[in-house]
Amino acid sequence: MRRFFMLMCLVCLGLAGRVHASEVTSPNGEMKLTFTLRDSKPYYSVSFRGKPVIKPSRLGYELHNAESLLEGFTQTGEKTSTFDETWTPVWGENKTIRNHYKELLVGLIQEKTGRVMNLRFRVYDEGVGLRYEFPQEGSKLNYFVVKEECTEFALTGDHIAWWIPGDYDTQEYEYSRSRLSEIRPLFKKKVTDNASQTSFSETGVQTSLQLKTDDGLYINLHEAALVNYPAMHLNLDDKNMVFRSWLTPDAQGIKGYLQTPCQSPWRTIMITDDARKVLSSHLILNLNEPCKIKDTSWIHPTKYVGVWWEMISGKGDWAYTSQFPSVKLGITDYAKAKPSGRHSANNENVRRYIDFAAQHGFGGVLVEGWNIGWEDWFGNSKEYVFDFQTPYPDFDIKALNEYAHSKGVKLIMHHETSSSIMNYEKHMDRAYQLMKDYGYDAVKSGYVGNLIPRGEHHYSQIAINHYQHAIERAADYKIMVNAHEAVRPTGLCRTYPNLIGNESARGTEYQAFGGITPGHTAILPFTRLQGGPMDYTPGIFEMQCSNGSRANSTIGGQLALYVTMYSPLQMAADFPENYEKHLDAFQFIKDVALDWDKSIYLEAEPMEYITAARKAKGSSSWFVGSVTGLKPHNSTLRLDFLDKGKTYVATVYADAPDADYKTNPQAYTITKGLVTAKSVLKLHSVAGGGYAISIVEAKDTKGLKPLK
Ligand code: NOJ
Ligand code: CA
Repeated sequence: MRRFFMLMCLVCLGLAGRVHASEVTSPNGEMKLTFTLRDSKPYYSVSFRGKPVIKPSRLGYELHNAESLLEGFTQTGEKTSTFDETWTPVWGENKTIRNHYKELLVGLIQEKTGRVMNLRFRVYDEGVGLRYEFPQEGSKLNYFVVKEECTEFALTGDHIAWWIPGDYDTQEYEYSRSRLSEIRPLFKKKVTDNASQTSFSETGVQTSLQLKTDDGLYINLHEAALVNYPAMHLNLDDKNMVFRSWLTPDAQGIKGYLQTPCQSPWRTIMITDDARKVLSSHLILNLNEPCKIKDTSWIHPTKYVGVWWEMISGKGDWAYTSQFPSVKLGITDYAKAKPSGRHSANNENVRRYIDFAAQHGFGGVLVEGWNIGWEDWFGNSKEYVFDFQTPYPDFDIKALNEYAHSKGVKLIMHHETSSSIMNYEKHMDRAYQLMKDYGYDAVKSGYVGNLIPRGEHHYSQIAINHYQHAIERAADYKIMVNAHEAVRPTGLCRTYPNLIGNESARGTEYQAFGGITPGHTAILPFTRLQGGPMDYTPGIFEMQCSNGSRANSTIGGQLALYVTMYSPLQMAADFPENYEKHLDAFQFIKDVALDWDKSIYLEAEPMEYITAARKAKGSSSWFVGSVTGLKPHNSTLRLDFLDKGKTYVATVYADAPDADYKTNPQAYTITKGLVTAKSVLKLHSVAGGGYAISIVEAKDTKGLKPLK
């Protein structure tokens, strides 16, 4: 009787509004999001196929000089809806993308203050997006200053995580695979050196974060549509296995100046039992706004070579002279300088790259070190470090562009900002105009070193707004942008498809800075590439660098990256003379497409292997790539994605049986033969290796045998 009475009391309390639950399920019914107000505090939870994946997790904000937005809420209403639309990206992995979700919008008011904080949840078959919305109308919230966003992700166990250290200034780390509970003991060892870095907690990690549960679920946490807001990190409470959002502060420790009406970026949780679905998901793109650029006819995927690896690998320099102890732009007289003889961006060398690009069908030639200032470009927290206008005496900007254009090639501009974003903004219009004057339509920008304004971070709100400004301003000039060291992407390339690339992770340059551990390129598509393409700059054929470093890869593994690392911008990073030694293997880089009608992930396990097949846009040709991590991998490749009834010629570029990423990286085999949709190929990749296949509809089958 007493127990019955207690139960009745609890039911009454529930009815009185202390716990109110709203639910929304994905279109296929497998993913369920539940929102509750418990004791006037907002919580959400997520289950997949009936199993909890995210336990009840808090939502809300702590504010500066104002009461927090964490409790005291009443639900004012809720609205559910369904959305199903198919859109066409300007470039991408697939010709069309379906955006299909069910939405729950929850209205909340903090009774005491009259401030409104609405929550929007979108539930897809493969994950969830949630964001905060702050309307101005009907709310007492106008300007507010964020102390911390308090979004929790309460996990159900000590999952496996593939993580890099949380850092306000760099993402250029190698990934670690460990249990969540092992992050703290490993953390310090994993913070390897970078030109600018600021970690904040021994359990702080970056997104996109890939997790795997012991019962085989893959969970991925990231954000979408990061606009006018600091980038989010995650900090783990490793006693309870709860991640909390941890925003990047500005120079004063503030985590966002907001003005209503406004909204947070989407917080995303992908959940699937199939690792391949993490790679094929378009969750992040779908949560971004449609394209805002009206005329996109000038945006085009590009394959390029560049005066770049010479400097990175120690063969040449960006600087013209070694005479100046420092440089003052406008005062330092380069006409009087004695050239060091190591300046790679000189007329003759640039012409050599243009000739090579033209001969092999590349659209672009990146030239770094073309402009004055590199003698003294970083390390001194210098504001006025480049003017982005004045070429070195041995770089004839007019003649070189004319020469390139005469051969059907475009030079790609380089703007290293040295992280002086103030200085870049001061010069941006003139810099973009100079590009237009000479016929450049793409720029690689860079943000090496500590940010200026001093004390700001690479991922604080002011920097996010700078990167955004650069993209939008570039679009005004019909310029495509590939930003290095900028914030990791969050799908904004859907809205601004002139953002054709970002680095924002440890790229191939680290092969020349001591080497990259195999497995890196088998985790990046799960993590960094979730938000958009990476300018990974693959294609190293000569692993030994002039500076003594060695690239940890095989030629087979390098070729695979043109397929596995999706990007509309792909570099062939090595020197022309190194490709000339292996023209048969180089043929794959020449042939591989950049833009696709269809992409299929055939095999995947984070950091171990990824095998992808893509159908070139507007063509019947397919390209396959497979990369491996620290273990060799055997693929049984069913070509059932090919058109039935057609015969194709497949060219397989594989690791030779005796290939070894350390001792025999240039050992590859090239096999040509006929394949159909019924073919099954057995392929072997060595550790740190891989294979690439081009599959072209057969016109002439003479002399060719079926491939086995
Ligand atoms: C770092 C970039 O990642 C690299 O590609 C570039 O060459 C240097 N900065 C110089 O701008
Ligand atoms: Ca970099």
